Amino acid sequence: MASLISNNEGLLIQPAIQLRKGYLVAFPTETVYGLGADASNESAVIRVYEIKRRPKSHPLIVHIAEKEKIIYWTKKIPDYVFSLIEYFWPGPLTLILNKSRKAGDFITSGQDTIALRMPQHPISQTLLLNFQSLGGHGIVGPSANKFGRVSPTTANAVLAELGDSLSVNDLILDGGPCSIGIESTILNCSEETPVLMRPGAITREMLIEKLDRDIDIYDSEGTGKPVRFSGNLKHHYKPNAQVILNEQPVPGAGLIALSNYTTPKGVIRLAAPHDEFEFAKMLYHALRLGDEKKIDKIYVFEPENNGIGIALRDRLKKASS
Ligand code: TXA
Ligand code: MG
Repeated sequence: MASLISNNEGLLIQPAIQLRKGYLVAFPTETVYGLGADASNESAVIRVYEIKRRPKSHPLIVHIAEKEKIIYWTKKIPDYVFSLIEYFWPGPLTLILNKSRKAGDFITSGQDTIALRMPQHPISQTLLLNFQSLGGHGIVGPSANKFGRVSPTTANAVLAELGDSLSVNDLILDGGPCSIGIESTILNCSEETPVLMRPGAITREMLIEKLDRDIDIYDSEGTGKPVRFSGNLKHHYKPNAQVILNEQPVPGAGLIALSNYTTPKGVIRLAAPHDEFEFAKMLYHALRLGDEKKIDKIYVFEPENNGIGIALRDRLKKASS
């Protein structure tokens, strides 16, 4: 069982030391909590796969402390990428780039690209900077859940999800609830035209506006070069309960819907967000709450298909499939 460190234990030197020693540290980001390991330490990264029960064929995101670290991990960076990181980093945007020789096959699943992200949460930033000052180059951070399940958005959710599998030398940092609540936008920048792989809080429209160029959307049924990544599986982000979309909830079932939707008699309201941002922030917590209450069906009324609503509908489609 790992120790849980609360957010007022400030300097985060010890967690950075534990990472450099090869232990795992779960940490908060603005999107969801990640399960961190030293991206240059193969045996630590292998433990991440084992603890998550994640197939080896699904590569990991490397989190970096500074924009400049992009040079260490990648090569042949298209020019437009510099505008992107200028504007959107630190933040909830992951970029897929051609990897340098520094990036081991054990983080990229043998693919010739690597996913990089510079998070914005003060705890992840401090942790990354301390880790870098100890000679580290990046921290892998898949969402801190078992493969295929709901991402954790609080330290307690990480503890419930992975606590039994972590050892006494591993840590879970508590940074409170994540402010965004769903995983980062993933943009593949390994070719001349960027491709949106996973929608998130940074929307395609925001990217197009900043770049002043078009962005393709990844088509998993298309004939393009096959790319392996778990968010692209049909089933993902799944609680124990069955998730049912846009249908009238029955008594005894759970309900997640915007606050203007009244809870029918006998239905257990799990979240009543006021807008789509609050929806994102509450969604995973509400799905977990449904499981805690041993509810077997959770009804969700989807938000509209624009802005962060596009990402929410993407996650809900997979959670309900
Ligand atoms: O918000 C986030 O991105 C969180 C926080 C902790 O940073 N992390 C996260 O990691 O969501 P994960 O592993 O749960 O999801 C990352 C996705 C996976 O679907 C993975 O397969 C894909 O990114 N991915 C990683 N490297 C890739 C690569 N080189 N090419 C294509 N997909 C890649
Ligand atoms: Mg994940």
